[in-house]
Amino acid sequence: MVKVGIIGVGTVGTSVAQILKDNADVISARAGTEIVVKSGVVKNLSKERGLDIALSTNVDDILDDPEIDIVVELMGGVEEAFEVVKKALKNGKAVVTANKALLAYHRYELAELAQDIAFEYEASVAGGIPIINALRDGLSANHIESIVGIMNGTCNYMMTKMTNEGVSYDAILKEAQELGYAEADPSFDVGGFDAAHKLLILASIAYGIDAKPEDILIEGIENVTKDDIAFAKEFGYAIKLLGIAKKDANEVELRVHASLISQKEMIAKIDGVMNGISVVGDKVGETLYYGPGAGGDATASAVVANIIDIARSGKSTPMLGFDRPMEGKKLTLKAVENITSKYYLRINVSDRAGVLAKITKIFEDNNISVETMLQRPALTGSANLLISTHIAVEKDIQNMIKEIEALEFVNFKPVMIRIV
Ligand code: HSE
Repeated sequence: MVKVGIIGVGTVGTSVAQILKDNADVISARAGTEIVVKSGVVKNLSKERGLDIALSTNVDDILDDPEIDIVVELMGGVEEAFEVVKKALKNGKAVVTANKALLAYHRYELAELAQDIAFEYEASVAGGIPIINALRDGLSANHIESIVGIMNGTCNYMMTKMTNEGVSYDAILKEAQELGYAEADPSFDVGGFDAAHKLLILASIAYGIDAKPEDILIEGIENVTKDDIAFAKEFGYAIKLLGIAKKDANEVELRVHASLISQKEMIAKIDGVMNGISVVGDKVGETLYYGPGAGGDATASAVVANIIDIARSGKSTPMLGFDRPMEGKKLTLKAVENITSKYYLRINVSDRAGVLAKITKIFEDNNISVETMLQRPALTGSANLLISTHIAVEKDIQNMIKEIEALEFVNFKPVMIRIV
């Protein structure tokens, strides 16, 4: 029999205990042994959870319990959780976590500490979609060329509702929070940080890149307005918050931002709270993974899969997918300023003679070529210029935006969305 202790018995933790009970028949058959939750740690003992497991408020009741084989960390946060899982490993216990923030900062230290002890984290990226398993095992024969994904259910839910139903940003964020999709601090969702944590985890498995959130381009959906959505619709795009990892020779670009993506792409069709990730391998070609990226049961499904795997096999796959670095072929992170993309810009200007000429001159000065242009009247006397560019370099675009913003007839900082 394998015994599990759950640290953080909230929505996901409760689902983990419930799934192990509800599906005990298939789980024990697949694991070759019985798996039971022995105990849990919570902040508030008086809250009713409908579970028949021993609860305490002290993590050491699990970490120091010699009967516990697997510690499931669902407490969230970074440093406190780091201390907890370090102690679990020190005490020889296997660890399963859904904590993407913990991994975004400490995955390499944890891999080093874990060595031959199982440390699994399938639920940390895209909830119920087995993307870690797919990338680490199923696609291990490939050089990974790119990963492009909708990795945050809250943002996808918001963008879908804003596009299809014209619902306002604030109203739809509130709804996503009420539905339990959003992080405790929703700025993690809408600011792109949650997706970035997930992207960094995938980038380690795909490329062996050791980067932290501070090292990569992270933008959210906060500046997307109905004008941008109207432009997107008119030009055949959807707007999605995407996590993108792309290999270019020996460099890998990692970025999270609101993106215009052709409505014809499969990823563009993924709506609502669903997540979807496209992975291109040099041998397999494009593969696509779709499913629920948030919610108690979906996330717990991935946690329990890890528990089953540990119960039946101990440890076989290196935590981050690599047993040793690729000889002479280390990939490095591409500097943000060198990223290349097509861009969309919304520039709000006073509507008078000569404005367009001055703006297009700045485009030319920065070596940026316009692909499409549209002018829409806005509030009295002003107009929105909606412009898409050919491929350009990030530093040129940033410089151009600064120059345009400084023009006296430009009413506020131009809004930029990258086109994927
Ligand atoms: N807040 C996250 C999301 C939950 O909306 O996708 C899953 O990580």
